[in-house]
Amino acid sequence: MILMTGTLKNQTVVVLGGSDGIGAAVAELAKVEGAHVVAFSRSGGAPDGIEGKAVDVTDRVALAAALQTVGAVDHLVYTVGSRMGSAPLKSLGDEVLQHTFETKLFGAVRAVRTALPYLGPAASITFTSGQVSRKYGVGTLVKGTVNAAVDAAGRHLAKELAPRRVNVISPGVVDTSLWGEIGSETRAATIARVSASLPVRRIGAPRELAQAYLFVMTNGFVTGALIDVDGGGLL
Ligand SMILES: NC(=O)c1ccc[n+]([C@@H]2O[C@H](COP(=O)([O-])OP(=O)(O)OC[C@H]3O[C@@H](n4cnc5c(N)ncnc54)[C@H](OP(=O)(O)O)[C@@H]3O)[C@@H](O)[C@H]2O)c1
Repeated sequence: MILMTGTLKNQTVVVLGGSDGIGAAVAELAKVEGAHVVAFSRSGGAPDGIEGKAVDVTDRVALAAALQTVGAVDHLVYTVGSRMGSAPLKSLGDEVLQHTFETKLFGAVRAVRTALPYLGPAASITFTSGQVSRKYGVGTLVKGTVNAAVDAAGRHLAKELAPRRVNVISPGVVDTSLWGEIGSETRAATIARVSASLPVRRIGAPRELAQAYLFVMTNGFVTGALIDVDGGGLL
């Protein structure tokens, strides 16, 4: 569903993590809305018709050089993420902790700090957390804490960077490659189990998430918001 054709006409949208999954869907929808979209990822891939550029968000120097190639940015979207696993504390390695925080939180903060000279007063910034920030369980320490930190970072920055707007989208379970290979038994079993547990009886589609990103990007009165798009997963 497309809500507002042309809303982003002539605006520049940068999606970090835009080669796949939720970020790719945001890139596609922003393009439909008239934006000039640049999708960044390690692979440099992008949906058809969208400019893709390669950068690893953990590389500060490369990130600065990459953002400089774009110049002024109207909307910065951060959807970088990687599989985090669900290890219990006793088998949770430091490297998993570090990698998760490095890509999901530090990368997001670094991207905003690096992009600041290019983000005017009317710009928006959108982070991505996840429902597990407020859904507690065994083996969810890393996912839970990193997503809670992203939630908090969004709100702090909404105050600090005003009048720029900063919001956070919190997905529930969404059908992306983050859940492993299509066709794998584990993936299918996980999706079936989660679907049965949700009030909407299915997991989400990237496009449904993209609509929420477009909403916060285009509504100038929304800042400091944390929006759950999770099929009722927190109920
Ligand atoms: N899918 C879900 O069920 C779900 C649920 C809750 C929260 N989330 C969150 O939503 C966000 C997006 O998830 P997704 O499902 O769309 O994942 P995805 O399909 O795996 O996409 C992740 C994107 O991040 C890029 N990326 C990964 N590491 C990077 C790095 N170091 N530097 C630059 N780009 C990097 C990937 O491209 P390259 O591999 O080419 O770099 C890809 O474009 C993540 O923060 C995730 O934690 C997802």
